Amino acid sequence: HSIYLSLVLLNIASISNMKSACLSLLLVSVCWALPFRQSGFMDFMMEDEPGSGSPMPPVFKPRTPTPPPVLPEGPDGHFCPFRCQCHLRLASAIKFLKECLFFFFQTLILVNNKITIIHAKAFSSLINLERLYLSKNLLKDVPANIPKSLQELRIHENQINKIKKSSFAGMANVIVMELGSNPLSSSGVDNGAFADLKRVSYIRIADTNITSIPKGLPSSLFELHLDGNKITKVTADSLKGLKNLSKLGLSHNEISVVENGSLANMPHLRELHLDNNMLTSVPSGLAEHKYIQVIYLHTNKIAAVGTEDFCPPGYNTKKAMYSGISLFSNPVPYWEVQPITFRCVFDRSAIQLGNYRKK
Ligand SMILES: *[C@@H]1O[C@H](CO)[C@@H](O)[C@H](O)[C@H]1NC(C)=O
Ligand SMILES: *[C@@H]1O[C@H](CO)[C@@H](O)[C@H](O)[C@H]1NC(C)=O
Ligand SMILES: *[C@@H]1O[C@H](CO)[C@@H](O)[C@H](O)[C@H]1NC(C)=O
Repeated sequence: HSIYLSLVLLNIASISNMKSACLSLLLVSVCWALPFRQSGFMDFMMEDEPGSGSPMPPVFKPRTPTPPPVLPEGPDGHFCPFRCQCHLRLASAIKFLKECLFFFFQTLILVNNKITIIHAKAFSSLINLERLYLSKNLLKDVPANIPKSLQELRIHENQINKIKKSSFAGMANVIVMELGSNPLSSSGVDNGAFADLKRVSYIRIADTNITSIPKGLPSSLFELHLDGNKITKVTADSLKGLKNLSKLGLSHNEISVVENGSLANMPHLRELHLDNNMLTSVPSGLAEHKYIQVIYLHTNKIAAVGTEDFCPPGYNTKKAMYSGISLFSNPVPYWEVQPITFRCVFDRSAIQLGNYRKK
């Protein structure tokens, strides 16, 4: 058997001085693939009784620190191929962590606390850290010196008002980056701030106040979610080189213009959400695009739809048929849209046209 441990560390009144954060809940997952065996290592832990209302008393009795055992790797090079789970509760967690467990951390969850500052060396021992969840705190900056092993950073709902060029320095292995609901303003993201994220495939910056698509996004991107911002224009330049981009979310912005050439810069795009914006026409380049299958354009100000707006003039020049087009809640009278407009759509049910209702 292999074991998977979730350690719930409660009420760690920290740390260096009075200004420091008080972590009210620290949830840590640790896992490895050794045969389950009671060892000195396990003496620190105690079963967490499910449903017991009041916090349990501290049970941590540190012993002499022992070096972490050398772990066999799973077939994929990871330490936790299986998932047995124990819930444990500890006090004096900092000491425990320092002495025993740094080696094992792959996931560190510090969500929903009141953390304002993270020490520059806080994560330096977590050399195997892959996932760091810091959402719902009061951080003003992306923490520095994050281990190079990190693959996923979630830091939405904080107080970050600037993504600097140095914010993600060295994070060459990050694949998922979640930055939504931070007070980022129009100039809140430096040009090229994401350039170091050479492997990133998913970035989400939703529900902020940025007014343009960040410049210099990595070409490895597969999904980009920028919904709920104040973006006014889609510029072709900002999407340059996004050859692998498959999904682009721009719903609930203030976009009135999609520049010519924008779609051509994302040749593998499959899904584009532009609903709830201020577009007055269908974006150009859809008919020539080979792969786009889903386009949301509902709740805009589109007053006319032409027969060449979605499909190329001849048949079968598109590599993929549309599976979703939404155009409802636009001023265009739907009875004036020619059926032939949708000749490259897979099925009639894929088109949502409908009435325009004035609010
Ligand atoms: C965006 O700006 C508005 C108006 O200035 C402000 O009320 C709102 O909190 C800001 N949003 C975020 C996520 O900072
Ligand atoms: C695009 O995706 C392909 C296939 O997943 C991958 O081999 C390639 O490295 C990616 N390109 C970039 C620039 O990341
Ligand atoms: C964009 O393309 C449309 C149609 O091809 C053309 O009418 C329009 O002038 C172009 N706009 C710019 C700014 O190039």
